Amino acid sequence: MSHIELKGVSKTYDVKGKSVEAVKTTDLSIRSGEIFGLIGFSGAGKSTLLRLINLLEVPTTGDVIVGDDNLTKLSKDKLRVKRQKIGMVFQHFNLINSKTVAENIKFVLKAAKYPKERMDARVDELLTLVGLSDKRDALPKNLSGGQKQRVGIARALANDPEVLLCDEATSALDPEITKEILKLLKEINKTLGLTIVLITHEMEVIKEIAHRVGVMSNGEIIEVDDVYNIFSNPTHEVTKGFVQEIYNFQVPPHIKTTNENRIITLKFAKDTAEENHLNQLYKLFDLNISILNGRIEYINGDPLGLLMLQVSGDEAEIGRFFKHIDDRIGLERAEIYG
Ligand SMILES: Nc1ncnc2c1ncn2[C@@H]1O[C@H](COP(=O)(O)OP(=O)(O)OP(=O)(O)O)[C@@H](O)[C@H]1O
Ligand SMILES: [Mg+2]
Repeated sequence: MSHIELKGVSKTYDVKGKSVEAVKTTDLSIRSGEIFGLIGFSGAGKSTLLRLINLLEVPTTGDVIVGDDNLTKLSKDKLRVKRQKIGMVFQHFNLINSKTVAENIKFVLKAAKYPKERMDARVDELLTLVGLSDKRDALPKNLSGGQKQRVGIARALANDPEVLLCDEATSALDPEITKEILKLLKEINKTLGLTIVLITHEMEVIKEIAHRVGVMSNGEIIEVDDVYNIFSNPTHEVTKGFVQEIYNFQVPPHIKTTNENRIITLKFAKDTAEENHLNQLYKLFDLNISILNGRIEYINGDPLGLLMLQVSGDEAEIGRFFKHIDDRIGLERAEIYG
């Protein structure tokens, strides 16, 4: 329900007299109510950036604004209260093993001085929200990874946060369970209108859940865009590397490319993805055009069409064919992918 603003924020660590710039000077706006994904390789600075948002890391420079507050300007007491409104979900759940599910959640309610008489009802409400009502009195050791993360999410939501920060929340879970947890986060985002910032190193997670995404490399956010645009039009090399997977088609091993026999992958964005372009191409060109592979990826519900063609015939005619592709809007060569 709150937006997040980083203004000129950086974080430098001092490690044995050497300074490590974990997050370089960064400006970033995260919109109220959006799911913002942050992706990058190990060591890129993702966790540091996330921890700067709730001031678990004190920025070396800059301002951190969450909702109505500039966290960098708050007194210690006010910051402690504000932090209760910034929920956090961890990769390894961080549950207290000696406490039951209900006690784990009560722990953070107590810290926020939640009214005692309403505490049990609040725990029930949270457990219903995350689908764990029957595990109220279980100990963490008797829960599956997915169930533990549900407790982690319930605990993060206990004090009605304005924003939810998730650091690799699904990285310890297998793909099926990851899907379930992402679905839960999506529901929470929708029903509570909660702003969610989610770190991952998997593009699959971004594709599944995020509205916008920031790509981090070497302490910098190098690209920020809608998830669809990041997939369909990546600009930075690192970003291209992350989205490459969806463009990959295997070239059949028996096909040898020559000047008279080319392979081209076409990309059709959004409204043009479901049209029949092939019919036109057949009519316009005196070439043999055959489909080697193709699929439509849905990103946030929007189609991105990919079609791998084998084009053979006169070299000059192939040249005209390629020019036609390059000149036409909505019919694009997936250049970077060959
Ligand atoms: N407390 C610290 N003291 C010193 N250096 C640190 C500290 N925390 C992080 N770093 C360094 O800052 C850089 C960014 O680390 P960070 O943990 O933010 O990366 P990350 O993108 O979250 O990586 P991963 O995907 O492995 O979790 C790394 O070079 C790391 O070694
Ligand atoms: Mg990390």
